[in-house]
Amino acid sequence: MTSSTEAHSVVPDPRVRAVLDRLHAAAEAEMEAFAQGAPPEPPPEPQPFNPEGAAEFFRDKYISLEREQGNLLYLLARSLGARRAAEFGTSFGVSTTYLAAAMRENGGGLVIGSEIEPSKAAVARANLEEAGLAGFAEIRVGDARETLADPGGPLDLVLIDGFPNLNLAILQLLAPHVRVGGMVMADNVGSFPVEMGEYVAWVQDPANGFASATLPLRGGTELSLRVRPAGGD
Ligand SMILES: C[S@@+](CC[C@H](N)C(=O)[O-])C[C@H]1O[C@@H](n2cnc3c(N)ncnc32)[C@H](O)[C@@H]1O
Repeated sequence: MTSSTEAHSVVPDPRVRAVLDRLHAAAEAEMEAFAQGAPPEPPPEPQPFNPEGAAEFFRDKYISLEREQGNLLYLLARSLGARRAAEFGTSFGVSTTYLAAAMRENGGGLVIGSEIEPSKAAVARANLEEAGLAGFAEIRVGDARETLADPGGPLDLVLIDGFPNLNLAILQLLAPHVRVGGMVMADNVGSFPVEMGEYVAWVQDPANGFASATLPLRGGTELSLRVRPAGGD
């Protein structure tokens, strides 16, 4: 079994792949360090997410999409011919790089990233520059509840990958902008069953205009297709 760093990458440009290889390797080393520091027994009940503690702890951590998820995101963006995408949670820009690479291959477009931690946004911008993709991404610094309120046009694709306590609120903020036939992908369904349970219940309720399923990628990745316009019956 190959590790995710060695896994096949669907992104064709060697310059982009070199950046992604470096970022995935660093993110995997970080995950291995987490695993070594983890308690031997998991808590008996799922613990609610602690946003205050997380903001401090994750200030300098990747916690990025794995390569398989990045490949899927890239393929979705290419298949949709995506020209405008938004993401909640940019961190150091792994997911942004996949999306921006797809935009360029699609003939042009914009990824609107969001990151509350300015130092992470600065590194993400540098990574996009190194990959030659700076012209295809705009990273908005601040609370995504404000910075993503106006995505500037209809969205072909959305990634929900911020702190899980806000994931449903950001989905509900962006859902009216997702075009029919557009997709939403969300990470962390398996890792945060309390908060992501509410997210999954909402997006899988047909009344909210999506058809949605949980994929067994990283213990749960929700993939949702906009099937009806916002407010449509
Ligand atoms: C899981 S990481 C994102 C990983 C990224 N999508 C990738 O693949 O590299 C979540 C990020 O969301 C950011 N974040 C948390 N709350 C936020 C908020 N209210 N607004 C904007 N960003 C936020 C965190 O600082 C963190 O960097």
